[in-house]
Amino acid sequence: MTVTLLLRPRTLLRALLLPALLLCGSAFAQERFSLFVPSPQATVERMIAIARLQPGDVVIDLGSGDGRIVLAAARQHPAIRGWGVDINADLVRQSNAAAQEQGLAERVQFFHRNVFDTDLREATVINMWLFPELMRLLRPKILAEARPGTRVISNGFDWGGWAPDETDTESGRVLKWIVPARVAGYWSWESNIGGAMLAYDAILEQRFQQVEGVVRAGNRRGVLTSARLRGEELSMTLDITLESGAVTRHEFSGRVRGERIEGSVTVTRDGDRLVQPWSAQRVRDRASFWRPTGVGVK
Ligand SMILES: C[S@@+](CC[C@H](N)C(=O)[O-])C[C@H]1O[C@@H](n2cnc3c(N)ncnc32)[C@H](O)[C@@H]1O
Repeated sequence: MTVTLLLRPRTLLRALLLPALLLCGSAFAQERFSLFVPSPQATVERMIAIARLQPGDVVIDLGSGDGRIVLAAARQHPAIRGWGVDINADLVRQSNAAAQEQGLAERVQFFHRNVFDTDLREATVINMWLFPELMRLLRPKILAEARPGTRVISNGFDWGGWAPDETDTESGRVLKWIVPARVAGYWSWESNIGGAMLAYDAILEQRFQQVEGVVRAGNRRGVLTSARLRGEELSMTLDITLESGAVTRHEFSGRVRGERIEGSVTVTRDGDRLVQPWSAQRVRDRASFWRPTGVGVK
């Protein structure tokens, strides 16, 4: 069923949900799906704009309909590739025919596939306009499979407790999330403080792109402030009074690569400022964080 509508997402939901349930009751019982409503062309343009495409990007559309998002992205950006999947075989045929006609078939393909059976590992930009429940069902798959830094773009619907990193309201409401690296857990590193190496142990807590944490530096403990995670890029600040009595500011900035964070830390104390490499290693337990501080408190 093809319906061309210029509807707000909530209106779309109301307009489609009831007929969808009536028409497709048995299919709903087996698998989740949304009906085909093409994104208005102006919204497609905003979805492409918010992605800020770079050469080498792999742009995909989960529930690609007539293929318009991936086709438009490939027309505008000759150095990207893309593909889409749709549960509707006719739409997939139509999309592949359009890719042929537009001379894009080398870079753009469409597959007859359920979004849940789609391998997301090579995508750098994921588009979707699916019912909120379907999006919510996909969230753990995207968080588990998509690489950190992957941009996820939705026409209209939000994503429960995962707040978007960016919202565009020029044509409807376009939302963008950046898949965050996994940083929750225990990390250790050393930094040069006043000419001597000091041991640091951190416990990071994470909810999507929001990070909080506590750090032990030598015999002192402090709370991280201003932690920010965008994809693999992590920055955070620690203000702490070290054993020497010096109030010391640490501004960390690094890239999370699996079990390591590599970057730099700017240490400011007694008016001196030292920028040095920062290399943190993930560790399995937090015993060192809780070691007695040795300040004589019983
Ligand atoms: C609202 S349309 C959006 C089409 C296109 N992404 C756009 O924005 O123009 C949703 C599309 O998702 C497809 N779809 C719904 N559920 C799906 C599923 N479980 N797996 C694959 N495709 C699905 C539908 O056939 C439909 O073409």
